[in-house]
Amino acid sequence: MTKTSSFSAPRGVPDYLPPTSAEFVAVRDGLVAAARLAGYGHIELPVFEETALFARGVGESTDVVSKEMWTFADRNGESFTLRPEGTAGVMRAVIEHNLDRGQLPVKLCYAGPFFRYERPQKGRYRQLQQVGIEAIGIDDPALDAEVIAVADRGFRGLGLDGFRLEITSLGDETCRPQYRELLQEFLFKLPLDEETKRRAQINPLRVLDDKRPEVKEMTADAPLMIDHLSESAKAHFEQVLGHLDALGVPYVVNPRMVRGLDYYTKTTFEFVHDGLGAQSGIGGGGRYDGLMAELGGQPLSGIGFGIGVDRTVLALEAEGKSAVDGPRIEVFGVPLGDVAKQRLVVIAGELRKAGIRTDLAYGGRGMKGAMKAADKSGARVALVLGDREVAEGEIGLKDLSTGEQRQIPLDEAVAQVAAVLAGERD
Ligand code: HAM
Repeated sequence: MTKTSSFSAPRGVPDYLPPTSAEFVAVRDGLVAAARLAGYGHIELPVFEETALFARGVGESTDVVSKEMWTFADRNGESFTLRPEGTAGVMRAVIEHNLDRGQLPVKLCYAGPFFRYERPQKGRYRQLQQVGIEAIGIDDPALDAEVIAVADRGFRGLGLDGFRLEITSLGDETCRPQYRELLQEFLFKLPLDEETKRRAQINPLRVLDDKRPEVKEMTADAPLMIDHLSESAKAHFEQVLGHLDALGVPYVVNPRMVRGLDYYTKTTFEFVHDGLGAQSGIGGGGRYDGLMAELGGQPLSGIGFGIGVDRTVLALEAEGKSAVDGPRIEVFGVPLGDVAKQRLVVIAGELRKAGIRTDLAYGGRGMKGAMKAADKSGARVALVLGDREVAEGEIGLKDLSTGEQRQIPLDEAVAQVAAVLAGERD
């Protein structure tokens, strides 16, 4: 029989449910907090934009634009696309609202869902979550290092340490065109298939990212951008590395890195975690010299990163760590009778006012069911109250880890629970 009334989420689109949703929120907020510490202000962007913004900004020849966009026509036939990434939208907003005419750099931070029509697998989703920052308008190697250090601190602040930062320079207009020609010269001599030849024509760097062993072998000796940087691009890169050294941010130079988006120039980087299998990139970013002008703004540079929140959660899991501070619930109230319930509802309110995470057994469950719920909640203590105890001015305080229960004065419930939890927190 076919079911007509049950739905499932679209393929590759995750739901975030308790208890793991708490990890998701902790990771997202922890990464945002790292950005706040460096002065990045919040920007909330539309989830969809004109399709042309991404085609122009991210690059027509990228997989993201040519294969992965969720594009739709609105009722007027105008083409819009669910944002596949954040940088183009930030740049659009900065230009539209003249933020680049004020204090520079413009430092912005965003968090939210992005959409890519990829083949779903663990760590690769069609709706993915990122935290990103962008620092726009100043071309200073110290700013590159700041952006990278914010990501590094963000990861470490969550307790992660099994990752590495890979970094390279993709050069700029003073050396990239010459290098592109050099690389094409090399690639055109290889016995490549037609599609790869076409790629070499349009975007030769991408051929270096080909995962097929035979292509890898053929391109093993390809000229690398890092060996053909102009004096200025080289100096920029060396200064970035110098700042990272001074900041104590470890890195490895990976001159063969190819990013999936076309706007990068100069400093380009990726954070890679080895516990994740194929989808090992937990974050990436770089400088983008030409993007603002390409989108109709001033010729100002920028630098930023996007961190994959989903993959960071998986990375923590792989390291057996948690980013969540404290249990979902600390105190669970068990009322045994109507008068007791009225009283416990008020006590729960007071506990919450005191910042203590509190839940109650609802629905008139018996002692056994309510205690089971208390155990399941993960609470440290239960407050057990019957109607007779209300009359006697007492309440049971049960330690859920030892099972020990003692009677305490009802009007001291909040203070005594707070004291028990404070002891626990020390
Ligand atoms: P990106 O490397 O395309 O860069 O994405 C950043 C991060 O998002 C990746 O490192 C990965 O962790 C996560 N991610 C990407 N696609 C997926 C997916 N399908 N499923 C799960 N996670 C995914 C950007 O998006 C640039 N806008 C970053 C940037 C900001 N560059 C400069 N400023």
